[in-house]
Amino acid sequence: MNTLDGKVAIVTGGASGIGRATALLFAREGARVVVADLDEAGAAATVAAIEAGGGRATPVRADVSDTADCRRVVATAVETYGGLHVLFNNAGIIRRTTALDLDVEEWDRVMAVNVRSVFLMCKHAIPAMTEGGSIVNTGSGWGLKGGGNAISYCASKAAVVNMTRALAIDHAAAGIRVNSVNPGDTDTPMLRDEARQLGEDWAAFASDAADRPMGRAGTPDEIAQAVLFLASDAASYITGSALVVDGGGLA
Ligand code: NAI
Repeated sequence: MNTLDGKVAIVTGGASGIGRATALLFAREGARVVVADLDEAGAAATVAAIEAGGGRATPVRADVSDTADCRRVVATAVETYGGLHVLFNNAGIIRRTTALDLDVEEWDRVMAVNVRSVFLMCKHAIPAMTEGGSIVNTGSGWGLKGGGNAISYCASKAAVVNMTRALAIDHAAAGIRVNSVNPGDTDTPMLRDEARQLGEDWAAFASDAADRPMGRAGTPDEIAQAVLFLASDAASYITGSALVVDGGGLA
């Protein structure tokens, strides 16, 4: 018996990094997975990897800041696999600037992709979770403690953490749990791109001991394992929580 046998899951941002690792893990644990991403080829590649391992998955090209796209992602899960049990709201973007250097369009884009997406996906997914379900939203260590040079990102992730608590309260009676996973620095294309933008060498950036008591960034698989736990029935009495997975960086 696998952890997610019989479950149908949606993973947004499933083409890359944490989303890809989680989609693969969900499928290995028995879930049928809808992999949604703006990056159509990347979503298809994740699905191909799942199928190569004997799992079942469907790619959907979607912009999670868009109402119609979110509705279509949920409809794909229900029409293809007959229901919905797990939603991992993972797609996200970052802009490494202070308030002084950020224009309003960029602020709005970060809020749309990181915050509006969670609202929209939940709005459409919750009515489809007729047997109850589990939603995991991706916050960030920076949504809890703040961080430098990322004003819109920090605001957006704090919103995700508190929206998670509000959703948990509103939908507990329907058997739907809602939690956030809050990674610290994790070795994904997003983080490597940030290191490049900051002009920092990856090896030095990844092992900066001041920020990382364990002396390294996390791996996408280490975040995926925490998401699997929150998604699964093993976390049946956990809702509204903010699980930090950061190698001690908040300590
Ligand atoms: P990534 O950049 O490797 O993957 C993000 C995926 O989201 C990409 O496939 C991208 O195409 C997709 N995406 C972006 N905008 C989208 C949109 N509008 N609609 C649909 N898909 C979209 O990033 P990573 O690192 O795997 O990040 C995943 C989540 O984890 C994000 O929410 C990020 O903020 C969060 N996070 C990442 C940390 C890190 O150190 N990598 C630390 C804390 C949080």
